[in-house]
Amino acid sequence: MSEAISINQQAVDGIVEEALATIASAHDLATLKGLRARIVGDQSAIASLNAKLRDLPGDQKASAGAIIGKARGELNAAYAARESELFAVEERAKLAAEAVDVTAAASPARIGARHPLSLLMDQISDIFVGMGWEIAEGPEIENEWFNFDALNFDADHPARAMQDTFFVEPADAHLVLRTHTSPVQVRSMLDRELPVYVLCPGRVFRTDELDATHTPVFHQVEGLAVDKGLTMADLKGTLEHFARVMFGPEARIRLRPSFFPFTEPSAELDVWHPGAKGGARWVEWGGCGMVNPNVLRAAGIDPEVYSGFAFGMGIERTLMFRNDVKDMHDMVEADIRFSEQFGVTL
Ligand code: DAH
Repeated sequence: MSEAISINQQAVDGIVEEALATIASAHDLATLKGLRARIVGDQSAIASLNAKLRDLPGDQKASAGAIIGKARGELNAAYAARESELFAVEERAKLAAEAVDVTAAASPARIGARHPLSLLMDQISDIFVGMGWEIAEGPEIENEWFNFDALNFDADHPARAMQDTFFVEPADAHLVLRTHTSPVQVRSMLDRELPVYVLCPGRVFRTDELDATHTPVFHQVEGLAVDKGLTMADLKGTLEHFARVMFGPEARIRLRPSFFPFTEPSAELDVWHPGAKGGARWVEWGGCGMVNPNVLRAAGIDPEVYSGFAFGMGIERTLMFRNDVKDMHDMVEADIRFSEQFGVTL
């Protein structure tokens, strides 16, 4: 026995309405495709109604078939329309996401940044070149004689032990990695005509462990002036100018008595640093003094006719207190992000 079946326009309209709502509820292609079977496929209400056609009394088959056929056509069209609509939306989004702006400026490859220590040495050199001084250089592997003896360090002078020296083998070659830039003083006096006004920036070496404030390889800048009639006043004036260019017009310097074998008298140089982090203050900056007559004599200069002044300071130390760099590691690790902060990128 077959149950009573009624396939009329109203029932089919209800099915169509529901299927159209399902189509409209799909907001992307994948969802729509997932719903396809329930909208127009085997599992759809319209398909199961269609299957029941054969159970209808013969006289109703034709009209019911026409209603269902029309509804199926409508749903297939609605499905196809929604499918192409969603396809177009997704295609547009994909193209937008993959768009290449051919007018955009190419981002330059980062090849590097000048190291702040090099920048600082150049800046210091410029200050002295501006006063008519010359830049001098010497070897990093230095004769012990230039590094110590010519600078008036006795063979067993305690000052020689003050500096922790890398000796280069074999020992009888008497070579060291220079412990300071002061040997360039002697080389400059031997190489050049008098008067001499030279600045020597360079790399120096001591047997220190790398930590927050030490590094076995570091940099110094050395100044040397030899002329007739130079006095401590010339030294002081030169350093004062240097300090003002480096640290601003309010910078001042102060000299405290000290000892170095190659200068007499000798002084520690402090700078009043107006821009110091946490407030202006005195900072130990380097050493200086009048060139010891023994050093002039070692370079073949008559100390009765000529006098000289000299000074020397650490570049790392200067960068640390000028730019508030707290850890030496930042200066030796060559991380481009550290160097870039100092502004000269390549
Ligand atoms: N050479 C010294 C050092 O490395 C620094 C120095 C002190 C250099 C006094 C000088 C000077 O020219 O006059 O500690």
